[in-house]
Amino acid sequence: MSYDLVVIGTGPGGYVCAIKAAQLGMKVAVVEKRKTHGGTCLNIGCIPSKALLHASEMFEEASHSFETLGIKTSKPKVDWKAMQAHKDKVIDGNVTGIDYLFKKNKIDVHSGVGRVLGAGRVEVKAEDGSTSIVETKNIVIATGSDVMPLPGIEIDEKTIVSSTGALSLEKVPNRMTVVGAGVIGLELGSVYARLGAEVTVVEFMDKILGPMDADVSKQFMRMLKKQGLKLKLSSKVTAVQKKGRSLEVTVEPAAGEAAAETLDADVVLVAIGRRPYTEGLGLAEAGVELDERGRVKTDNHYKTNVDGIYAIGDVIAGPMLAHKAEDEGVAVAEMLSGQAGHVNYDVIPGVVYTSPEVASVGKTEEELKAEGIKYKSGKFPFSANGRAKAMLHTDGFVKVLADAETDRVLGVHIVGFGAGEMIHEACVLMEFGGSSEDLGRTCHAHPTMSEAVKEAAMATFAKPIHM
Ligand code: FAD
Ligand code: NAI
Repeated sequence: MSYDLVVIGTGPGGYVCAIKAAQLGMKVAVVEKRKTHGGTCLNIGCIPSKALLHASEMFEEASHSFETLGIKTSKPKVDWKAMQAHKDKVIDGNVTGIDYLFKKNKIDVHSGVGRVLGAGRVEVKAEDGSTSIVETKNIVIATGSDVMPLPGIEIDEKTIVSSTGALSLEKVPNRMTVVGAGVIGLELGSVYARLGAEVTVVEFMDKILGPMDADVSKQFMRMLKKQGLKLKLSSKVTAVQKKGRSLEVTVEPAAGEAAAETLDADVVLVAIGRRPYTEGLGLAEAGVELDERGRVKTDNHYKTNVDGIYAIGDVIAGPMLAHKAEDEGVAVAEMLSGQAGHVNYDVIPGVVYTSPEVASVGKTEEELKAEGIKYKSGKFPFSANGRAKAMLHTDGFVKVLADAETDRVLGVHIVGFGAGEMIHEACVLMEFGGSSEDLGRTCHAHPTMSEAVKEAAMATFAKPIHM
């Protein structure tokens, strides 16, 4: 059997690419080494983390907001086993959905580790050690990413964990140290803080969520501190030692000039980034070039230096996000079937699913300054929004950045309840090259949190009404 397309890896990049290509009439097969499809995102990433984030947020609401809202209940308790079961059920529902979609689109599944033998040939090594060769016109590499290790600290996924172990801890720890105040550290750190753990986050840089707009980062840091998270900025973890059932974590200033201190923890979560995953793929032998950070090198059409071999998702350059991988999957499938696939990298939203959420699209104020672009900034706080008051979600703000001359919206940054949903009106606006006046003059339903987006836009060219 020869295929039009073989996709290696069935994460959000790979499975979406395979489905789109099949929808466009190609004969498609996928190769996956994991027992279930959906990759990092569905099995050990986006989906399970959101199940725990939601459950822990509900616990927090029930513990602290119900009484103010006039709801009397007995004190809520955490049933960790049931919370884990909820998470596992959500994973299962999602990954079996991919099986269904593969069958529906007549996509062949080859289970095992895929290795590129060269253009047109992929070897599949099954779990029992047997190998087979799949022939194809095109190959898409969508093998994703893996946890970045911290030198000298061995992850056992029990007490010294990566995000994978942190999603399946045996119990809620009393004390947790998180290394890295990035997306994973803050999302999972806040889950355990809400469930009762004393969480300390150690971050190398002098701010949290490094690439985010500094205004957002500062405000969000204040909120996290209020929620009880301890943050140690400009610091690094240099060692973790097992002392009986406890862990002794050595923390040093990032600059290294002061003495080290130690923290006691039951669990240490290492969340210092992820790296492209190309192990065992045979890329060097196949002549496929990698860049200086180990990512598969591609041109603007996702083509590697070898004809007929393409790559998408976390394994290539760009933000390591599921929706970026998915959009690249669609684009490459369209290009392979003769259409004009395209991803607009200027309009890729980023959302941190904490409580409240942080959402961002386009340029930050710091980036605009660095690029010498003249801009106007409009800001509106949720504390002046009626719906936010009704829901007890008044923390945070919307910030709109628009070009000083053309008024074109260049960036929108939101910290607040539902930010991850609200950001999409900014994405659509920016995709169409809209101005802040377009946004500020668009009728928004009342009472909604989204009215804060409209008012922040108004603040760039006139004045907001409610402030
Ligand atoms: P992956 O999802 O990593 O999939 C790659 C697949 O390839 C895997 O199934 C792997 O088994 C398979 N594979 C690898 N090598 C081979 C081989 N040689 N042969 C066969 N199969 C192979 N992103 C978001 O946008 N939103 C979120 O909320 C979010 N939350 C996250 C939470 C956590 C805890 C983590 C770790 C990540 C999160 N991400 C999130 C990032 C997101 O998971 C990734 O960006 C996304 O999964 C990348 O998709 P991908 O298809 O490129 O790769
Ligand atoms: P990250 O890149 O977001 O953050 C890592 C943090 O660790 C950075 O702030 C960095 O300065 C810090 N750091 C690095 N080395 C350190 C050290 N030795 N000591 C202390 N701090 C150190 O990486 P993270 O959180 O691991 O996430 C990996 C990827 O997964 C992200 O790039 C993100 O794209 C994706 N992801 C996305 C989510 C979302 O979209 N909501 C959720 C979770 C993950």
